[in-house]
Order: sequence, then structure tokens, then C-alpha cells
Amino acid sequence: MEVWTEKYRPKKLEGIRGQDDITSRLKAFMKSRSFPHLLFAGPAGTGKTTAALAISREIYGEDWSDNILELNASDERGINVVRNKIKDFARTKALEDVPFKVIYLDESDALTKEAQHALRRIMEDYTHTVRFILSCNYSSKIISPIQSRCAVFRFKPLPKESVVEILNKIIKNEDLVAEQEALELIYEVSEGDMRKAENLLQACASVTKNVNIKAVTEVVGFAEPQEIEKIIKLSIAGRFTDAKKKLTEVMVGYGLSGLDVVKQIQKQIWKLNIDDSIKIKLIRACGEYEFRLVEGSNEFIQLAAMLAEFSLIAKK
Ligand SMILES: Nc1ncnc2c1ncn2[C@@H]1O[C@H](COP(=O)(O)OP(=O)(O)O)[C@@H](O)[C@H]1O
Ligand SMILES: [Mg+2]
Repeated sequence: MEVWTEKYRPKKLEGIRGQDDITSRLKAFMKSRSFPHLLFAGPAGTGKTTAALAISREIYGEDWSDNILELNASDERGINVVRNKIKDFARTKALEDVPFKVIYLDESDALTKEAQHALRRIMEDYTHTVRFILSCNYSSKIISPIQSRCAVFRFKPLPKESVVEILNKIIKNEDLVAEQEALELIYEVSEGDMRKAENLLQACASVTKNVNIKAVTEVVGFAEPQEIEKIIKLSIAGRFTDAKKKLTEVMVGYGLSGLDVVKQIQKQIWKLNIDDSIKIKLIRACGEYEFRLVEGSNEFIQLAAMLAEFSLIAKK
């Protein structure tokens, strides 16, 4: 079975969605067939590795994979391992018309400060033969002498249109049918992490060709939003017993923890069409009960108390 995140990884910069500033700046570098060291900062699944690979394809053509070395800073034991691998890799020359090879160092922010200083020296030693592309989640965790040697690119979570567009393309290609709301739900759960979104879609597709809300909620371990809404509405209508019964049903049916449910209830409250003054109080109650659950209180007692409080809030 092919993993979709690899199958659908864009091969060219043009295929990268939702990072237009970044791709246009990178394309300008490609035109001159040269670039400085690069620092790619941003959350997971936003195209950092994809961009590094696309650059290599663009610069080296067919032989691209011989000219890029991918290392993961958190896997490699210590900076000395990195140094030795780089030494070996940099020993052979790249193509005649490209005077450097590329080293992609993933999760650079996993390196200690000392290791980063060593890395900075390595970057200087190989400055004529190697271009570094460093990736990290937070650029603030990278020492400034490295930052100042790199062109910095900030990757953002993909916007909804991009996530849905990519998912729709996959759906067409894989002969699936999908409800638009189901794709939007995948987007919401993924929070703009495209790897997560593609993995969720693939998990759904392994169960059914019809990607609907029900299928998505089953794979994400989420209750259907309407069911959560029902719990809230019953409780604020003062139908406490029914609300509690529905809550138990949802928790058992979907195998959710108390904390999962509180988080989902909190999200759903934002979307409810109710008076703001009530909304504020409900949100505050969620925070209180979330805290109690994190502290390890009994979840059924706490959740029942939360619904009771919802009823009281709405009554006032
Ligand atoms: N901006 C994007 N446009 C299109 N696909 C993307 C984008 N970002 C991520 N993806 C998809 O998610 C997968 C993982 O992305 P990757 O570039 O490895 O993320 P990371 O930023 O964690 O390095 C890719 O193989 C691709 O299928
Ligand atoms: Mg990556």
C-alpha cells in the first residue's frame, strides 16, 4: 500500500499550496541557479521537506537524489555524527555547473546550543561546497549566528481552501466520493497540517469509498458535531437527565475520554447561536472542568457537574 503523503507530495515548487510568498521567493533563487543557506521554520506538515526536495529536483534534474543528503537532527546521535556524514557527502563533487550539494537538516531546533555552535562552524567550513537547508518548528530556538547566515522562510498552516483543494484532487484520483462538509471537518481536525489531513483521508478511505462526516468522525475518534450540539442544547434547555444520558451515549459510543468531550463541547459552544453573555459563562465553565479533569478528578462526576452548571447558567 502506498502512503498518500508520499504519493501526493508535490514534485515541483508550483505544486506547493498556501505558501505563495515562499514559493515565489524560492523560484527567484532557482532562476539564478544559486541560493544561500536556508532556514525553513514552521509547524509540521506545511511543506518544508517538500520544498527542499523540489528545490533539489529543480537544480540537479535527474541526479537530484545523489546531491541532497537528508539528516534528522533528533535521530542523529550528536553533532559529531552529523559532521562525519557531512564530510563524507561533501567529499564528492556535485554536477559541473552546480558548485555545491545540499544538506537538509530536519528538526534543527532539537540540537542543543553547543551543537548549534558546532553546526555553525561546519556551515562555514563547507561554505563553498554545501548549501544547508535547516528546518525547525520555532526559529527562536535557533541561535542567531545561524539565523543571520540563512535566508529565513516562515511556513504557515495551510488555509482551508488549500487543504480542501488538495483533498479533492486525491479524492478524484482515488475514485472516492466525498461530502464537502466531511472535508471541512478533516481540515478543522488537521489545523492546517497537510500530512495529518492526508493521513486522515487515507484512513477513512480504507474503511469506505464514501467519505462522509460519519466516516471522518470514526477515524478521528471524535463525536459527530451534531451529537455534541445536542448535549449542550439539552442541558441549556434544562433537560439535565436527557443531556447526561446523551453524553454517556456519546462517550461510550465513540470511546472518548472526558477530556476529549470537554474539548469538543468547548469548540461547539463557540459555534452555537446563543446569547453572548451565556456563551461566555459556558466557556468559562468548560475551562474550570477541563482543569479538574486534568488534575485527575472522576470524569463522570465532573461531566455531570458541568452539565448541571450549564443548566443553571442558562436559567439565570
Ligand atoms: N504546502 C503544501 N502543499 C501541498 N502539499 C503539502 C504541503 N505541505 C505538505 N503537503 C503534503 O503533506 C506531506 C508532508 O509535508 P512535508 O513537506 O513533509 O511537511 P513538513 O513541513 O513537516 O516537512 C507532503 O508529502 C505533501 O503530501
Ligand atoms: Mg519534514
